[in-house]
Amino acid sequence: MNISLSVSCLAWGHDPPTSWESAESLKLILPTCLCVCSDPNQLGLRNHKKTIMAFSVTTRSHSYESYDATEDSVFEPSDFADSSDQNCMRQELVDQKSRRHKRFVRRHSYSPYEVKVKTLAHHHQWKAPEFFRGAKLPPGRMVAHQSSLPRLPVPNLAQTLQKYLKVVRPLVDDIAFQKTKQLVEEFGKPGGLGESLQSKLQSRAQERQNWLDDWWLHMAYLDYRDSVVIHVSPGIVCPPQDFNGKQEQLQFAAKLVAGVLDYKVQIDDQSVPIDKLRTRPLCMDQYYKLFSACRLPGEQRDQVVVYGPDCGVRPRHIVVVHNNQFFSLDVYDNNWKPLSPDLIHAQLQRVVCQSKHPSVPVGILTTENRDTWGMVYNQALKKDKTNKLSLEAINRSIFMLCLDQETVREKDRWTSMGHQLMHGGGSQHNSGNRWFDKTLQFTVGTDGAVGIVYEHSAAEGPPIIALLDHMLDYCSQSPAVKETSVHPKEPERLLFSLNNSVLEAIDNAKKSLDMQVRDLDLHLVTFKTYGKDFPKSQRLSPDSYIQIAMQLAYYEVNKVACATYESGSTRMFHLGRTDTIRSASVESLKFCQAMQDSSIQPSEKVALLRRAVEGHKRYAQETVSGQGIDRHLLGLKLIAVEAGLDVPDLFEDSTYEQAVHFKLSTSQVPSKYDSLLCFGPVVPDGYGICYNPAEDHLNFCISAFNRSRETDTVKLATALNQSLLDMQELLQTQAKL
Ligand code: COA
Repeated sequence: MNISLSVSCLAWGHDPPTSWESAESLKLILPTCLCVCSDPNQLGLRNHKKTIMAFSVTTRSHSYESYDATEDSVFEPSDFADSSDQNCMRQELVDQKSRRHKRFVRRHSYSPYEVKVKTLAHHHQWKAPEFFRGAKLPPGRMVAHQSSLPRLPVPNLAQTLQKYLKVVRPLVDDIAFQKTKQLVEEFGKPGGLGESLQSKLQSRAQERQNWLDDWWLHMAYLDYRDSVVIHVSPGIVCPPQDFNGKQEQLQFAAKLVAGVLDYKVQIDDQSVPIDKLRTRPLCMDQYYKLFSACRLPGEQRDQVVVYGPDCGVRPRHIVVVHNNQFFSLDVYDNNWKPLSPDLIHAQLQRVVCQSKHPSVPVGILTTENRDTWGMVYNQALKKDKTNKLSLEAINRSIFMLCLDQETVREKDRWTSMGHQLMHGGGSQHNSGNRWFDKTLQFTVGTDGAVGIVYEHSAAEGPPIIALLDHMLDYCSQSPAVKETSVHPKEPERLLFSLNNSVLEAIDNAKKSLDMQVRDLDLHLVTFKTYGKDFPKSQRLSPDSYIQIAMQLAYYEVNKVACATYESGSTRMFHLGRTDTIRSASVESLKFCQAMQDSSIQPSEKVALLRRAVEGHKRYAQETVSGQGIDRHLLGLKLIAVEAGLDVPDLFEDSTYEQAVHFKLSTSQVPSKYDSLLCFGPVVPDGYGICYNPAEDHLNFCISAFNRSRETDTVKLATALNQSLLDMQELLQTQAKL
């Protein structure tokens, strides 16, 4: 981006710098700000020493101008501290800002072009440029909009049923389709079962903040009984680091911990920038479930505990695991200030000194089937007093840091890291150096493999990526870690007393985990020819374009379409999570078939491609607006079960079974870094595909199971590469004609 503008208010905790020469220097200064706000209207100042109105413009030529308004626009907190009327305070600020703005424009003789950019920026709610992305809002702002978020709607029944028939059409043959059509008509007829279930669902929606959230939490996560490893918990691979020895590993880990704590400060004072979909603010609830949280195994159903700000004793420790041994480490000083990277580094050195050799991998129990693990946890492990204390320390900890050994080498470094993040490489490697129930685990390996493993019930990928981006910014900007002679409280080893039944359970867990590891076929790959800029240049949505490329790749390999799941965020609604964007459509199938047919003219193929991409975009927009069909149908099914009725025939139909057998389970998880989220397939004969589209390249993680004869990640990746090239060629050739 070579044109950007920001009008920002900077609140300093100390004296401001005297001048800002360039965007670069502003970038360096920003992290030292207590508060950076891109919207003066949102400014609510109480605790900062000084506030400066700073106007800055980046023009076509990249030159940067700024206005240090120190002499006439410094506000002391006393200006506002006693005001109980926030709106009054804001208005005053806006008026003052507007007067200064005029003076500023006069003084700097802005060209009409620059003023226009300013006006535009105002229009876009003072949208901050790229380098403001890590900026904070004033305390409290992050949740100010929560109460006004709309409730998740219950879509119209007839609309859902019509759409259902449309999305299953490319998946089943004519006979199956005719049967499904009759079932839909029966279900949806006036006064029929559908209407009665719909009205029950509407009543539920009126009684709750979100009619779906607890159903979804239980059904998708807590009642799920397979291992969370590969099946539930994603691993996020960060750009690989190059460490020269153990010291550099620990120095990086210390910065990483400090960076995460820095982000937690923002969550605690509710100053994380509000996520938006275009201009619509999104629900920020998931951010509160990330820290000091843990899943607890149960027999039949798990639970999640969060030790948030309102819990009695606020956790002040993280847990560090090295050589399968766990240590509790306080990360705040007596004034609740996070420890510096230097001090954290000193503590990590102590942990490593005290855990030179691998011990029994008790953490591997968390990779087990949930019923099995629930039984060991509740009936054996937790009954011992020492174990109970150690388990509590893990559950309550803010997050976990895993200091790993080297990654198991796969075909390439990136794919090796994908394996490392998804399961730890097996029982002989890092899989016991984990606690997979912990909501957030950060891993730093001796070989520079860095990433995050997260337990999915708390949140979708985007909030975790926001944290990851902040953490990596922090690591790259903070100065080199220095040795220190100050030593805070000694890290506390968490002891486990393991009787024979637990040791046997650990042996079993090792065996089943190793089988899972052997079964995972994973391939991380970058498509380098172009990125999301190309579809944009063709006036096509990049996400929809990539989805259609995946349809084409799957069709090339299998010669059929398959039910395809793409996560669409419903965070526009209070406590919203996701619904399904169904990427396989009649239009996408027509395009795929045409691509195999040399008698069809390129111009017609282009028209079919555009129709498929635009159809996907429309479906995606409807889904994120709460008009998806999958969660609605699920709701109708669950409300029938809750009312003690039989599951309606519509859901017993083989077409429905096929429609929810997602052979392609996909998700876009963008990051400003080349990080890549990895997750497993959701059916035995399917693929999981996650992608992070950059401007000029596209990163993909493709997973499948080795036991399936139908799948092969390298084959699909090759087909995807070809699809993306073919689609580009098609569009470019036609553009030239
Ligand atoms: N022409 C030119 N540009 C276009 C375009 C068109 N026809 N259509 C879209 N674009 C632009 C957009 O303006 C946007 O620009 P920006 O990069 O400047 O913001 C960009 O292309 C990307 O838009 P698009 O590719 O259409 O996707 P999106 O960002 O709207 O994302 C979803 C679509 C479905 C991925 C998103 O809405 C979503 O739900 N994400 C969350 C998924 C999730 O939760 N995943 C985690 C599961 S663990």
